[in-house]
Amino acid sequence: MHKSEHRAKKAASLEDASSAALLERAYGLDTSGEARDLYRDWASTYDAHLEKGLRYLAPQRIAEILAEVLEDPSALILDIGCGTGLVADYLSGHGFNAIDGLDFSPEMLAVAAEKSLYRTLIEADLEKPLDIADESYDAAICCGTFTHGHVGPQALAEICRVLRPGTPFACTIHAHLWEEAGFAAEIASLEARCIAVLEEVTDEPYFEGAPADARFCMLRRR
Ligand SMILES: C[S@@+](CC[C@H](N)C(=O)[O-])C[C@H]1O[C@@H](n2cnc3c(N)ncnc32)[C@H](O)[C@@H]1O
Repeated sequence: MHKSEHRAKKAASLEDASSAALLERAYGLDTSGEARDLYRDWASTYDAHLEKGLRYLAPQRIAEILAEVLEDPSALILDIGCGTGLVADYLSGHGFNAIDGLDFSPEMLAVAAEKSLYRTLIEADLEKPLDIADESYDAAICCGTFTHGHVGPQALAEICRVLRPGTPFACTIHAHLWEEAGFAAEIASLEARCIAVLEEVTDEPYFEGAPADARFCMLRRR
């Protein structure tokens, strides 16, 4: 093997190792302060770690799922826990360009802002009421944010509040948290209160070659 090939291989394996370490840190979060610190440290290398290191499939897949049910290309979409904008990139590939991004990490939002994919970027905490008027959006999407140590099921009702009646909300929910963290119960409660209905669920991997531990959900605001 040439020296340059050897160096490239070594760099790739270091990249894989640091991607795995950051993912482990993400899944081990206990508090929202720890989550803010993680994403502050991760923002500048997040895209490389997720897409190249971990081969992150979920943003592309969830964008496809929303695009299948959203016909109007001018629909105003809220990307919840938008991070650096991976989801908006795929949505724009499906012809959607009216997208607002919401996240609580200023560093992740700064990376997203550089891509010019969003109409507006909103710095907000999903564990609190959102400063957004009722029925503001034609669709919502949320990828990788309902997961270990991140955002809990109570945010679902608040997201529904800002959606117009009849609109779709596509999201991933970590399968291990479905029952354990109360997502199943909260969705059942939204259905019982005629706030939203769960139209479709498929279990697929977040990352290439990993177990199918992401629930890709299509909810619809009633
Ligand atoms: C795994 S990243 C997903 C980012 C993007 N959706 C993607 O798939 O690449 C999770 C995102 O959720 C955000 N987040 C975590 N807790 C949050 C909270 N309480 N309120 C708002 N955003 C939060 C983080 O800042 C981070 O950008």
